[in-house]
Amino acid sequence: MALSSSPLAFVRYASCLTILLAFATLFQLSRAQQISLTVNTNNLDPFNICGSTYSKMVVSNNKVYIYGGSNWFRNGTSPPYQITNTYLRIADFTSAQNMSNTLIMTALEIPDNVTIYNSGAFWGDEKWLYVVGGQTNLAPYLTQQGDFVSHNWTVFSAGTVFKYEIQSGKWSSEPTLQPTDEETAAGTFCCGSFGWNERLGRGFVFSGCDYAGATRKDPNAGCDYTGSSDVVRNSNIMVFDTAGWRWSNKSTDKRLTSVSVEFGAFVFLPGTETADGSIAILLGGIEKEPYDNMKSMRQVLVYESKTGSWYNQETTAENDFPSARHTFCAVAVSASDNSSHNIYIYGGETKDDTDGFSDMYVLSIPSFH
Ligand SMILES: *[C@@H]1O[C@H](CO)[C@@H](O)[C@H](O)[C@H]1NC(C)=O
Ligand SMILES: *[C@@H]1O[C@H](CO)[C@@H](O)[C@H](O)[C@H]1NC(C)=O
Ligand SMILES: *[C@@H]1O[C@H](CO)[C@@H](O)[C@H](O)[C@H]1NC(C)=O
Ligand SMILES: *[C@@H]1O[C@H](CO)[C@@H](O)[C@H](O)[C@H]1NC(C)=O
Ligand SMILES: *[C@@H]1O[C@H](CO)[C@@H](O)[C@H](O)[C@H]1NC(C)=O
Ligand SMILES: *[C@@H]1O[C@H](CO)[C@@H](O)[C@H](O)[C@H]1NC(C)=O
Repeated sequence: MALSSSPLAFVRYASCLTILLAFATLFQLSRAQQISLTVNTNNLDPFNICGSTYSKMVVSNNKVYIYGGSNWFRNGTSPPYQITNTYLRIADFTSAQNMSNTLIMTALEIPDNVTIYNSGAFWGDEKWLYVVGGQTNLAPYLTQQGDFVSHNWTVFSAGTVFKYEIQSGKWSSEPTLQPTDEETAAGTFCCGSFGWNERLGRGFVFSGCDYAGATRKDPNAGCDYTGSSDVVRNSNIMVFDTAGWRWSNKSTDKRLTSVSVEFGAFVFLPGTETADGSIAILLGGIEKEPYDNMKSMRQVLVYESKTGSWYNQETTAENDFPSARHTFCAVAVSASDNSSHNIYIYGGETKDDTDGFSDMYVLSIPSFH
């Protein structure tokens, strides 16, 4: 894969100021309307960001792909504000890396007709990355020329799934086949918890809602709501099978699940993946109704995808349990003999989103400690 030879690739060199900029072939933002508001173009280095919010990650062949959400951007000395992350960012760990080496990261421009969401699903395997659903992003879009542009996304629903072929670097999209029962999978799946069984190539969506999101043309503008902001909350599980490009309704017994959990983590344990199914852990998140209630880390739910059963499981800790949080990173690693598994959680947000965590915890399974 020749990332750095792509005309849309940015490669960061050791000096922060020297970037390979190949703008000549940048596509035109044909559907976008320009807004006049100056930005210091010296700050438009895609790596010159202060942090990311709501971005999602996929690991494939020792490369980490980062998509969606927004980045904190600083215009000169102004206080930072959020802009939509319009890059597919790639961190290369195919060889041992010194984390101070800035060459680890590249950023590929995402074509204008590929949706860029806040809080949808991002799944992937050895060959493909999949972008599913998601609400439109309130953070403004800023072009490399320093222009704020408006976007009217019409395709952000799970009725169409976007995919990225890793080898060719090409994006495409395809309408999905719907469940064979009365259920439909055409909403945004905003704010749900998304699990992925790589062996079976199946993505699992738990709960969330159908909020369409909002857009903002520039950091000073008001919000425009995208479509209806009606919220349909549920605790269904919908499964997307990449082989058949089809959704199915795998709704479960709802006695243990809550109807309105948003932004939890739904993590499949790789060492439990068989041809029939696998075990996943659902943890954290915020229960929106009847009022914002953070899900405690003292308890997790265990999901067995073969039977669609949920089990309640209490956890233990030496001294401190992780604080309740939502929108955090969680990855699972299985021991080489598959007898135990660790879930690593990092970051996340507090109930009122006013603060972020920067701590890391490990949940060991089967001890659930
Ligand atoms: C976006 O959609 C709104 C409402 O349909 C329309 O008024 C506006 O012109 C559109 N903007 C662009 C950039 O297409
Ligand atoms: C960026 O900074 C310049 C210089 O201070 C200022 O004129 C401009 O309004 C700022 N633009 C935004 C979008 O903050
Ligand atoms: C990693 O890179 C930094 C900056 O170049 C250097 O100071 C450090 O010694 C390197 N560490 C190792 C283990 O090579
Ligand atoms: C974007 O538009 C181009 C040109 O019409 C088309 O080839 C491509 O498939 C589209 N991409 C997606 C993701 O729909
Ligand atoms: C989805 O599946 C559940 C469980 O099998 C079932 O009870 C429900 O009726 C289905 N939904 C629709 C709309 O068919
Ligand atoms: C552990 O699980 C993975 C994924 O199912 C499988 O590929 C691997 O062969 C298993 N290892 C052992 C020792 O059973």
